[in-house]
Amino acid sequence: MKENPYRNLFHLEPDRGLLNDPNGLIQFQGRYYFFHQWNRFGLDHGYKEWGAFTSSDLNNWDHLGSALLPDSKEDSDGVYSGSAIEHDNKLYVFYTGNTKNNGTRKTYQRMACSSNGCTFIKSEKVIETPNGFTEHHRDPKVWQSDGKWWMIVGAQTIEQVGAINLFSSTELEEWKYEGVFYSEQSLDQMCECPDYFQLGDAEILVVCPQKRTSLLNGNENISSYAGYIVGNFENNNKRFRPDSDIILIDEGFDFYAPQSFIDEKNRRIVVGWMSRMDEAEELACPTAAFNYLHCLTIPRELFWENDCLYQRPLEELKMLRKKRNTSTETSAAFLSDSRSYELHVQLVNQTTPLEISMNNGNTVIHFDGRSKLVISRINWVSGQREQKELHIPKLFEIQIFNDSSAMEIFMNKGEKVFSMRYFCEEEQRDISYRGLQENGSIDYYSYKEE
Ligand code: FRU
Repeated sequence: MKENPYRNLFHLEPDRGLLNDPNGLIQFQGRYYFFHQWNRFGLDHGYKEWGAFTSSDLNNWDHLGSALLPDSKEDSDGVYSGSAIEHDNKLYVFYTGNTKNNGTRKTYQRMACSSNGCTFIKSEKVIETPNGFTEHHRDPKVWQSDGKWWMIVGAQTIEQVGAINLFSSTELEEWKYEGVFYSEQSLDQMCECPDYFQLGDAEILVVCPQKRTSLLNGNENISSYAGYIVGNFENNNKRFRPDSDIILIDEGFDFYAPQSFIDEKNRRIVVGWMSRMDEAEELACPTAAFNYLHCLTIPRELFWENDCLYQRPLEELKMLRKKRNTSTETSAAFLSDSRSYELHVQLVNQTTPLEISMNNGNTVIHFDGRSKLVISRINWVSGQREQKELHIPKLFEIQIFNDSSAMEIFMNKGEKVFSMRYFCEEEQRDISYRGLQENGSIDYYSYKEE
């Protein structure tokens, strides 16, 4: 088989099959575990288990293969998404067991426990869906506060409105239903992969409203997105009271189902699934020829500053930098010696247009010198350029992490983030820019091993 030009260097992806949501993110006994949704047999969504990546330094990763299989009655049609916690030196994971009987779905929230991080024993106890909700009840996220364990689960009311249910427990086996944590028309017909955490003095609820073109024949996700709401978990009525609308977490083409966790350095880290491809895009995705689909984003540390959520690449990623070249010319063109590299653009007073073209023209960033930033790529199905527009009143920094076929762009120290897949075969990549004003600079870091 010919060499795979799309194989990423620092984005986690499976060696075969389809990967989707990050699951059970945790640092356990010193090691990081990033579990993930996985169809190890094919490139469709027909089979789901948990696979596992592990690392001691967030740079060198091993894939451990399967971690949780759909091998029992209450998860026979899929080990769906969920989360992890540590308790008494054991790793507990919570996930959704999906079952289908003659086409009728039934879901169970389940728990499994491990003392070594890779072999799990499933608990017999399951949580069934409360009255008033359909069986689209999934993706438990568990945390501890005020001496109790709490679990939120993505839900759909029988009126087909998105919701998030709340449960509590004192010992992780028996869970009590506490009612609706949050429900709103803006959650569309169902809310997937909820997350909730404290960040600085803010409380953040992460939601993934799942959009569907047709509820009748629909598996298709049309423009589902991941967002967050700032608010308060009110202890008296156990509901989340919102203080904001839903704000996009990532403005790019490919970002969904993020999950966060706290590591031993006390950092709140988030990882997302780097795909929002529709079925046609998945089928035509160039990595399908190499028998795998999709990747995760790089881990990003979250900060709450100036009443805003900031996402910044972890310090550990600096290990990837092998060589640096700084340019302060108005315009320049050069060739990257590898498919993965970083560009760090610093703008001091950029009041005229600046354009940066990367990956042989496949990906282009255009700033109008005022507040409009347009990011575009060539769509691999249509062959046409497609773009998204961002409004950034004062742009002073762009940090671009470019992998062989995945790109993450951080603007203004992580105030806005943009993730996308793109497909370009060449090993050496043309990079060029024009319009850099005085005192601006562009650092290029090659990630090529010498
Ligand atoms: C989100 C999602 C989850 C579900 C999982 C199944 O992408 O649909 O709601 O648990 O994927 O793979």
